[in-house]
Amino acid sequence: MQVDVIDHPLAAVALTVLRDEKTPRVGFRVALHDLATMLIYEATRELPTAAVRIRTPLAETTGTRLAGEPVVVPVLRAGLGMLPAAHALVPDAVSAFIGLARDETTFQPTVYLESVPADLSGRPVLLLDPMLATGGSALHALRLLADRGARGTVVVSVVSAPEGIAALDASGLDIRLVTAAIDEGLNDTAYIVPGLGDAGDRIFGAV
Ligand code: URA
Repeated sequence: MQVDVIDHPLAAVALTVLRDEKTPRVGFRVALHDLATMLIYEATRELPTAAVRIRTPLAETTGTRLAGEPVVVPVLRAGLGMLPAAHALVPDAVSAFIGLARDETTFQPTVYLESVPADLSGRPVLLLDPMLATGGSALHALRLLADRGARGTVVVSVVSAPEGIAALDASGLDIRLVTAAIDEGLNDTAYIVPGLGDAGDRIFGAV
């Protein structure tokens, strides 16, 4: 599995805002949007393109369009905080949704929504989930996407734990991970340390 850690001063600043427990919800959302933009920019580097002929006001020239219709898949809830950045960068992408809740005793994901195209073969797929912790949720989503034909799915996460990366790697799935940080590890309640807390609660508020 290819792992790309985005090393950029603006990414580091946005990540610091996200980590800071004093950052209010609105500031958290803005920093997440900014950082997601940088991560998705990198995650889409290999998107297939096709040449198009266009006219500038001065001459005919060759331009570029995306060759396929990408599919962006936020893992609900927290992945929704990254979706506006994907929409801004790839306006023609189709959005699909996977809703997973974490059982707080087993830390295993339970599924409450799967709204994903039946056939993903040949389509570039981005999976958006800000926290790659145990990898359980991401793996569940990735297996569903692979069962529907997705290959080379790019997982876009803000903070990743070594345990989650190892779980994705051991799956043998054809995937790439783009992340802003690899943290120390998980605590005994499977939160990433130092991490940034519960991403969904910090975006939407605790329910
Ligand atoms: N999910 C989160 O939102 N934060 C963590 O640290 C782990 C899982």
